[in-house]
Amino acid sequence: MNAFIRRVMRMDDEAVRGLADVLIDCVDAGASVSFMAPLTRERAEAFWRRVASDVERGDRALVVAEDGSGICGTVQLVLAQPENQPHRADLAKMLVHRRARKQGVGAALLHAAEDTARQCGKTLLVLDTVTGGDGERLYARSGWQRVGVIPNYALFPGGGFCATTVFYRDLEG
Ligand SMILES: CC(C)(COP(=O)(O)OP(=O)(O)OC[C@H]1O[C@@H](n2cnc3c(N)ncnc32)[C@H](O)[C@@H]1OP(=O)(O)O)[C@@H](O)C(=O)NCCC(=O)NCCS
Repeated sequence: MNAFIRRVMRMDDEAVRGLADVLIDCVDAGASVSFMAPLTRERAEAFWRRVASDVERGDRALVVAEDGSGICGTVQLVLAQPENQPHRADLAKMLVHRRARKQGVGAALLHAAEDTARQCGKTLLVLDTVTGGDGERLYARSGWQRVGVIPNYALFPGGGFCATTVFYRDLEG
């Protein structure tokens, strides 16, 4: 793997642009990650600026992968949870640019996110991912427990329902 993984504590404009590139590439490739196609640069950068605010407040943790061309992958932890779930975080927006896929970047991001969660005092992680997608295989082979499938949960970027599979990871187990 030719990527360097790090946690980002503060996002500058270059990071927002690089992360928008990755998000646009994933939506263009058909990933169901909250956005419909076509995803404009303006909407993508607006999304990452909201994430930047959450990161600065400590409500989210952001991990990125960088290769020779810049940011090529990312994943987030939603740290801010209800007061009766302080031990839990949601894992969200696991995205790898098509140029960097199938080299272990996704697995490395997942490992780094789990380490970051432990450092933040979290012991339980939860996520959902498109049923039958590349993410589902990644989580299943990385020790995550499959809870079940919710049919017709979201739309693909071009339209048409997709199911989602819910997973959890006990970081103490
Ligand atoms: C899901 C996603 C993050 C995986 O990223 P990735 O960097 O390709 O993940 P990895 O490289 O760790 O694993 C992908 C595959 O490459 C294989 N692989 C890893 N390193 C490899 C190497 N050096 N040589 C060949 N194959 C390799 C893995 O075994 C895995 O195989 P599989 O697809 O048969 O399961 C990426 O496909 C993506 O961004 N998809 C769109 C967004 C999305 O759906 N995200 C999930 C939302 S929760």
